[in-house]
Amino acid sequence: MVFKLIIDIFSRFLKLNPKILYIKKNICIVIAGTKLFMSKNMKNYGILIVFNNFPAFLKTIKLRWIEMRRISISCLKPGMKLGSPIYNSRSDELLVPGVTLTDTYICRLRDLGLSYVWIEDEVFTGLEVNEVVSLKTRIATIRKIRDITMNTKVTGKLLVNPEELYDTVNSFISEIFQNKDAIFYLSYLYSYDDYIFSHSVNVCIMALMTGITLGYRGTKLTDLGVGALLHDLGKIKIPENIINKPGKLTVEEFEIVKMHTSFGYELIKEANNLRGSTAIIALHHHENYDGSGYPSGIPGEKIPEYVQVVGIADRFDAIASDRIYRKAYSPNEAFEMCAASGNYYFKENVVNAFLYNIAVYPRGAIVELNDGSIALVLDTPRGYPLFPRVQILCNRFGREDKLKREVSLVDRGDLYIVRILNGDEEELLNII
Ligand SMILES: [Fe+2]
Ligand SMILES: [Fe+2]
Repeated sequence: MVFKLIIDIFSRFLKLNPKILYIKKNICIVIAGTKLFMSKNMKNYGILIVFNNFPAFLKTIKLRWIEMRRISISCLKPGMKLGSPIYNSRSDELLVPGVTLTDTYICRLRDLGLSYVWIEDEVFTGLEVNEVVSLKTRIATIRKIRDITMNTKVTGKLLVNPEELYDTVNSFISEIFQNKDAIFYLSYLYSYDDYIFSHSVNVCIMALMTGITLGYRGTKLTDLGVGALLHDLGKIKIPENIINKPGKLTVEEFEIVKMHTSFGYELIKEANNLRGSTAIIALHHHENYDGSGYPSGIPGEKIPEYVQVVGIADRFDAIASDRIYRKAYSPNEAFEMCAASGNYYFKENVVNAFLYNIAVYPRGAIVELNDGSIALVLDTPRGYPLFPRVQILCNRFGREDKLKREVSLVDRGDLYIVRILNGDEEELLNII
């Protein structure tokens, strides 16, 4: 009876799915909930040990609840526990979830150029991350693209098994269809040295989601994905001192960088085993709808729609990522740049389809609302990229909101986000 009561409390009030793990005599161990976080190997769990001599069980409840939250690198402190794996430029796992951070580890994370990581946290509500494409598939593809790129650099030829590339993209597509509710959040995998590879994969996922919204299916969708994966292949022919230049490029240097489009086109054409649109994407992904792009400056309807789909994903990922020569624009700045590009850089329906699939405010971000209160971003409903569901942390006077109220900004016309707090401000709030 007591066990049943406990299970009911968990089911009804805490909205969890408890499972009885062990029952013997007067002891019952219940797994109070299981959620997948970030990757399949990380679990959020709580174990409740209940002794069957009511009411004494109230004194013997032992609950351990592991939660995670996204935290700015500048707020990391030794002793915190990492909540998600960290990868280097070769996609090798550098740090595993659960590791206790030391000063050395924190310096290394800074060196990798990461802006945020996930840590285990017992204060906030757990944030379940429903990845569009699993970390495993993403990492495997980053590796594959790295190998293809390096091989092309050494041999001067694109030697690729097309079936392998089509299979890779098709596995992305089936995961996207399986995770129908998933929205693209800014990746936490970016770092300077692996930018080009994680960039290709991000562009591919965002382009596929946009293509699906536009009604692409079958070969057209697969070709879109392969084109997105190889769109910047021509960069291997640009001298590294220009590609990795930490400052602004000179006019001459920029002219050289622009050549990556035709270099990519030639490499893919010469390979002669990929369908035509792949080379077209490499050639024209920097064209603008108003004719101001390169290499051809072709305007409007002359740029195939599928090229524009890759173009907008490319633009968004580039402005929303840390680069060697500048910090990333904030997610809302990146959103505004993309939203304002309709019929200017990209066709309006392409912009709308793209924005339908992204979330401006990443889960775990701490934001300020227009009434001065501070809130934690929980999740974003599809089609409303600026209006996530948030949890109020403190009111405009800085007083903690003990009720931890959850507010859906879509339903509150009077309430909206004005900015994301930076790391130092999070620390001042003493909410970490
Ligand atoms: Fe490019
Ligand atoms: Fe690119």
